[in-house]
Amino acid sequence: MAGQEKFERTLQGKAVSLYNLKNSAGTELNITNYGCRIVNLMVARPNKPQVDVVVGFDTIDGYLNATEVYHGAIIGRYANRIANGNFHLDKKDYQLAINNPPNHLHGGPMGFHSQVWDVINSSPGSISLSYLSPDGEEGYPGNLKVTVTYSLTDENEVIIHYEAVCDSSTIMNLTNHSYFNLNGQGSGTILGHEMYINADRYTPVTETLIPDGTLEHVKGTPFDFKLPHSIGRHINDDHIQLQYGNGYDHNYVLNKEGLNHELAARVKGDVTGLIMEVYTDQPGMQFYTGNFMSGENFIKGHIPDHFRTAFCLETQHYPDSPHHSNFPSTVYHHGEVFKSTTIYKFPVTQ
Ligand code: BGC
Repeated sequence: MAGQEKFERTLQGKAVSLYNLKNSAGTELNITNYGCRIVNLMVARPNKPQVDVVVGFDTIDGYLNATEVYHGAIIGRYANRIANGNFHLDKKDYQLAINNPPNHLHGGPMGFHSQVWDVINSSPGSISLSYLSPDGEEGYPGNLKVTVTYSLTDENEVIIHYEAVCDSSTIMNLTNHSYFNLNGQGSGTILGHEMYINADRYTPVTETLIPDGTLEHVKGTPFDFKLPHSIGRHINDDHIQLQYGNGYDHNYVLNKEGLNHELAARVKGDVTGLIMEVYTDQPGMQFYTGNFMSGENFIKGHIPDHFRTAFCLETQHYPDSPHHSNFPSTVYHHGEVFKSTTIYKFPVTQ
């Protein structure tokens, strides 16, 4: 695998490396145990070159020095924001790091994205990594053991399976924070991508991107992606929610029954025609359009990460759930096992 040596490093006293998964279609998935990240996802196409659809860096230093630290990573213990970084659980108050003032974002500065994970199993089709988050880390209660397995199937599915268990009550919300560009990373804006999101409602936010607690209908608003259309069509509409997010940076309430892996989104790159489908058992999905990208980081191929040149579809529980009793609960009690699966699929026939 080219470039592997640029990821060989000792960090936090542990060996960091890059691991390669490959399927019979010729698609390749590269994972580093620094932050349990997707580094490259080279999607094979019949009679055409692979397309690397994940934005990232050529070297481990790229990840360590970036001003945007979540590229491709597993996010925890609580993905997305918690207002003022506080929560109340089992008669106790907890205070988390405020790393996105005035809120807590993506598990804090030393969240799961900043940790070196242990590779516990690896084969050409899958890799499992685990991390033990000690009691009190970033202010969260209990020792939590999390295991993430990435699998690459011959049907061009990247399956991400999460399992976690804690020795006391805690809150938990896990996601993967890959930045996608289906025209190829570094190939320019994603505004022409065609997007479908299987959601009738979303969770509107206040100025600091904390849900106001309502579940609003998307119908008749720029948030309606039930009929596929380009990401850019309404992104600059005069709508207060788009002003708060500087574009889309919102959690969708997925249409689903129970815990089935239903289609949450389907996206098509306008230049390559490449399609990605997202399936999940999670109740929500953050749609983020790279509104904070500003060209200051140099991604693979020494290309600046310009404004809106990637999008994220982060399957998750709703942001700030600990403060909203009407949202699905993110509380897990001692010994209760958290299990979840999300699939990013690139249909092979395209
Ligand atoms: C959040 C954005 C944030 C970004 C950082 C997204 O999940 O919704 O507000 O800036 O992560 O990568």
